[in-house]
Amino acid sequence: MAKENKKNTLTLTDHRTGKTYDVEIGEGSTLRAMDLRQIKVNADEFGMMGYDPAFTNTASCRSTVTMIDGERGILWYRGYPIEQLAEQSNFLEVTHLLIRGELPTREELEYWTYEITHHTFLHENVKKLLEGFRYDAHPMGMLVSVLAALSTFYPEARDVRDPECRRKQIYRLIGKTPTIAAFAYRHSRGLPLVYPDNDLSYTGNFLNMLWKMSEVKYEPNPVLEKALDVLFLLHGDHEQNCSANAMRSVGSSEVDPYCAAAAAAAALYGPLHGGANEAVLRMLNEIGHRKNVAAYIERVKQGEVLLMGFGHRVYKNYDPRARIIKRIADEVFEVTGRNPLIDIAKELEKIALEDDYFVSRRLYPNVDFYSGSIYQAMGFPVEMYPVLFAIGRMPGWLAQWEEMLTDKEQKIARPRQVYVGSPQRDYVPLEKRGKSPAKAAS
Ligand code: ACO
Repeated sequence: MAKENKKNTLTLTDHRTGKTYDVEIGEGSTLRAMDLRQIKVNADEFGMMGYDPAFTNTASCRSTVTMIDGERGILWYRGYPIEQLAEQSNFLEVTHLLIRGELPTREELEYWTYEITHHTFLHENVKKLLEGFRYDAHPMGMLVSVLAALSTFYPEARDVRDPECRRKQIYRLIGKTPTIAAFAYRHSRGLPLVYPDNDLSYTGNFLNMLWKMSEVKYEPNPVLEKALDVLFLLHGDHEQNCSANAMRSVGSSEVDPYCAAAAAAAALYGPLHGGANEAVLRMLNEIGHRKNVAAYIERVKQGEVLLMGFGHRVYKNYDPRARIIKRIADEVFEVTGRNPLIDIAKELEKIALEDDYFVSRRLYPNVDFYSGSIYQAMGFPVEMYPVLFAIGRMPGWLAQWEEMLTDKEQKIARPRQVYVGSPQRDYVPLEKRGKSPAKAAS
């Protein structure tokens, strides 16, 4: 290769063979892992692979949806800074931005809003499905199950290669997720289910389905409605996180989006992902008082517990969403009264940000650190926190799913492995296997 053509290449020398390879450096300083395959000692070998457990340094796709600069604490949706969207936009407009790629015109927004708010009702049989759950079933388990069950109500949804079909399922999934969430909540409380009121805003209607009792028309508190709407917006997408990766990976088999979304919601449920907001609240309750904060921090430093709501795979700076949420908290407390847990959270943050353990590891508050205190002040039980996260994240999952399906480079996701198990061995009949160590000892 001529010298000038080598500019965007990386030269690798395999010292096992002495051979040298020039591999192209692509967009974003990437190497194509497949370019490594040519590197082998013997012709009949499989060839070199990348080894990257938990994908800590592997780009699985090219994406135009969300940009995070974790070093500088920056988050954009389709190029728009999250701070501007939180300040000036609203959740439904942002769902359009994430999925369609652009802010909608007035007409597009009207149409988009109409379609979503007219897909909020659930088939009556879903109620029967919910009745089958125990009164104390976790609402996230109910959400995951009902999302998957919707696949059986809309069998046509499996036509994932048809853009019109996809569009319909997108309206349904964004429209129905709050209804499932609210039904799950009312079921756990033994309350009659409240049907959607399409005159209300997306978030106002959600509050209606949660809290309406005997009043003829539910009127959401505008401050709480706005605060929850912004919280949904802040959770809209976060590039290739665990649940988005689940959505893409499961969706790459071309299963319908209800099953893929159920998989994504299941991934979100875990305490290291969306379940962290619930874990933060439990942690704050366990600490109980500001005076116990220092002792708790010591336990974290001893490795006994994690400081939930702190740390992030990508952010090595303050999570910009946490900054906005901290501000919203004060607005919400004006209405609901101050949640005393916020003082414990602020004290934890103050001590942690000055402590070398957290500073040296670049651990900062993430999106979950303050959201739970707001949800609690609004009256949500802790089990509902990851469900609220899922409502906000649904458009992100759908945007990632559609991008994956329309990307010609994508195929069914199927990682490689490095086999480190036993070499080939012969089957041993049961009677010749001896006793298990535990049995032998007893
Ligand atoms: N508390 C105490 N120590 C921590 C924390 C924490 N919350 N997070 C990371 N560390 C420590 C690790 O023990 C490790 O220390 P070491 O170098 O001495 O071994 C170091 O910081 C690096 O941490 P990793 O685990 O390598 O970071 P990773 O990127 O794998 O994990 C994660 C990121 C899962 C978010 C982690 O920070 C964590 O468990 N946080 C608490 C749970 C949480 O808040 N999750 C929500 C994430 S945001 C979201 O999903 C919406």
